[in-house]
Amino acid sequence: MSSDNTRKDTRILRADAAAIAEAASVLRAGGLAAFPTETVYGLGARADDPRAVASLYAAKGRPSFNPLIAHVRGLDAAKRLGNFSEAALTLAEKFWPGPLTLVVKASGNEGACELARAGLDTIAIRVPSHEIAQALLASVDFPVVAPSANRSGHVSPTAAQHVAEDLSGKIDLILDGGPSKGGIESTIVDFSSGAPRLLRSGGIARGEIEKITGPLLHAAKSEISAPGMMASHYAPHAKLRLDAKEVRENEALLAFGTSPPEGSHRARKILNLSMRGDLAEAASNLYAYLRELDASGAEAIAAAPIPGEGLGEAIRDRLSRAAAPK
Ligand code: TXA
Ligand code: MG
Repeated sequence: MSSDNTRKDTRILRADAAAIAEAASVLRAGGLAAFPTETVYGLGARADDPRAVASLYAAKGRPSFNPLIAHVRGLDAAKRLGNFSEAALTLAEKFWPGPLTLVVKASGNEGACELARAGLDTIAIRVPSHEIAQALLASVDFPVVAPSANRSGHVSPTAAQHVAEDLSGKIDLILDGGPSKGGIESTIVDFSSGAPRLLRSGGIARGEIEKITGPLLHAAKSEISAPGMMASHYAPHAKLRLDAKEVRENEALLAFGTSPPEGSHRARKILNLSMRGDLAEAASNLYAYLRELDASGAEAIAAAPIPGEGLGEAIRDRLSRAAAPK
């Protein structure tokens, strides 16, 4: 269906039943359809079709050694893709559907082709809770790989318009389901080699998971087992300055809470992630605000300090990646 260099006529459809059916048939035919999830918008392709997956990598401009998450509608479908340990099952039962991705040993190449897994013998699986994502997954009889629907290395999209800005002309369809509520990607826990490891902090706070698993190990720094964790991921064009106590010339301010950093009057533009210091609200605003401050033309973005507990861990992780040299 897709040749990589031809420009596509990307349709943006309000996500009613007819549009969801249309997205399902795009996927069935090996095309690319973006859809909302409770975390960020995903760019979907059928996981069992190497040609569809290859065109997805091309549209994103993503290095093809970076494995994708297979999205399915529930635990039964998930069990067909991978082997769940007792501990992995317990987490799945507690948090699915929702912003948790589990990495387990893959059961074969049937459901998700090797290219989707970047040749690994493990597979990342997620059951999203967003009702449009659920409806789409219920309309197809294959798993759907869905990375965040942005050009590789850009800020993740939390609205259909963000997807269009990055991928218009490269994909077939965008289902518009309004803004994503969670705003930050799923938490990834790896069960594929014994004791569970946290590969990516995300929409479910580590503490919530550790209540069930006990302390999670950390992925070794040298490992590329979650290569989406490459430092410069999620980056805006402007430089980002973390834990800023003051605002300097030509900076925009990403604020948090009620006490403004010194020199705030100098800011080219100010957006407050959460006036009342609520971390869930801050997560849901993070990517949209980074885009907006970036568009203000400021040379740099000063990010006010954000506490590291709960969802703050994932927010700080994304900010420090966005601040890394490109
Ligand atoms: O919230 C989310 O998870 C979103 C929405 C769209 O569902 N998706 C998302 O996908 O963030 P993506 O492709 O942007 O990030 C997937 C991450 C990458 O860091 C990738 O390296 C890691 O998952 N990953 C995928 N398969 C893996 C595997 N078998 N082992 C370890 N890490 C894996
Ligand atoms: Mg991504």
